[in-house]
Amino acid sequence: MNENMMHENTIHENTIIDLSVNIAGIRLKNPVIAASGTFGNGKEYSQIFDTSKLGAICTIGLTMPPRDGNTGIRIWETPSGLLNSIGLENPGIPSFIENDLPFLKNLGPAIIANLSGSSSDEYIQGAILLNESSVDMVELNISCPNVREGGMAFGLDAGTAAALTAAVRRVCTNKPLIVKLSPNAPSIFAVALACVRAGADGLSLVNTIRAMAIDTVNRKPVFDNITAGLSGPAIKPIALRMVWDLYKGLNDENIKIPVIGMGGISNANDALEYLMAGASAVQVGTASFLDPFSMLNIIDDIQSFMETNNIQNLAEISIRG
Ligand SMILES: Cc1cc2nc3c(=O)[nH]c(=O)nc-3n(C[C@H](O)[C@H](O)[C@H](O)COP(=O)(O)O)c2cc1C
Repeated sequence: MNENMMHENTIHENTIIDLSVNIAGIRLKNPVIAASGTFGNGKEYSQIFDTSKLGAICTIGLTMPPRDGNTGIRIWETPSGLLNSIGLENPGIPSFIENDLPFLKNLGPAIIANLSGSSSDEYIQGAILLNESSVDMVELNISCPNVREGGMAFGLDAGTAAALTAAVRRVCTNKPLIVKLSPNAPSIFAVALACVRAGADGLSLVNTIRAMAIDTVNRKPVFDNITAGLSGPAIKPIALRMVWDLYKGLNDENIKIPVIGMGGISNANDALEYLMAGASAVQVGTASFLDPFSMLNIIDDIQSFMETNNIQNLAEISIRG
């Protein structure tokens, strides 16, 4: 078998297995996307594995000015989960476009820019620059729980989320716009619906769940910010339920837009659960820290599942009802 065909169209006993998906007009060769904040600028991972095999790569949260991120402890392990308080450390959008984007684009997969900010104006300025850049898609991050201003504050309320989505949509005319939802919103569906009505082309969920840890020896919270964001296997059943609820809700409203699911995906079975719950694609984050090859294994094993079950394309993957 030709190596380059491995993860796209493979012929299996005369059946063509097609792993590709279309997300808001952008074709991904398979549904596995490196999650925002867990792939760096791609330089380290590209030395470890063939990153051209990924469906897409989502960048770290990008803001207009460079940010140093949060002080103190930033990563804390918990049973089956990871707490992080990175605080959007990034080089700033102008520097990202000039110094990091050419390398990322060269890797091959579609590049999704995760747009973050601390004010509506900052998001808009960032969107203007990304709109003129070579990124393939913009993921509007209204769900970062680790910054004092902006971030998740935009994603908890339907009105605020819609106003920001509409403002970014107005200037983001060349790129598909996905909105990344917060699992911490009182009504994720209300926020999602408001974002779709304000012009989102797709939705992704979940960002990390607000959580905390206490250092009992020193009797103080582990994180300078007190709370942090929980990711990894611990959140998977909850995130999966949120994706399912969203998918059903959108269906009830007759809204047909792609949903990208994530939260605790470590293997192909986890990814298949999300695809069966209605996700068009998945993002994988924390699992890559444990095993940098997990995304490639997930792609291979989804393909094996399709071969075994005689499924020709991902649109056929759904729950038997
Ligand atoms: C260290 C770390 C940094 C992250 N940074 C970002 C970020 O900058 N922007 C964002 O939207 N999500 C960020 N996330 C959230 C992930 O993209 C993802 O939504 C979440 O971790 C759930 O997926 P997982 O369980 O596969 O990690 C980060 C997660 C981790 C663990």
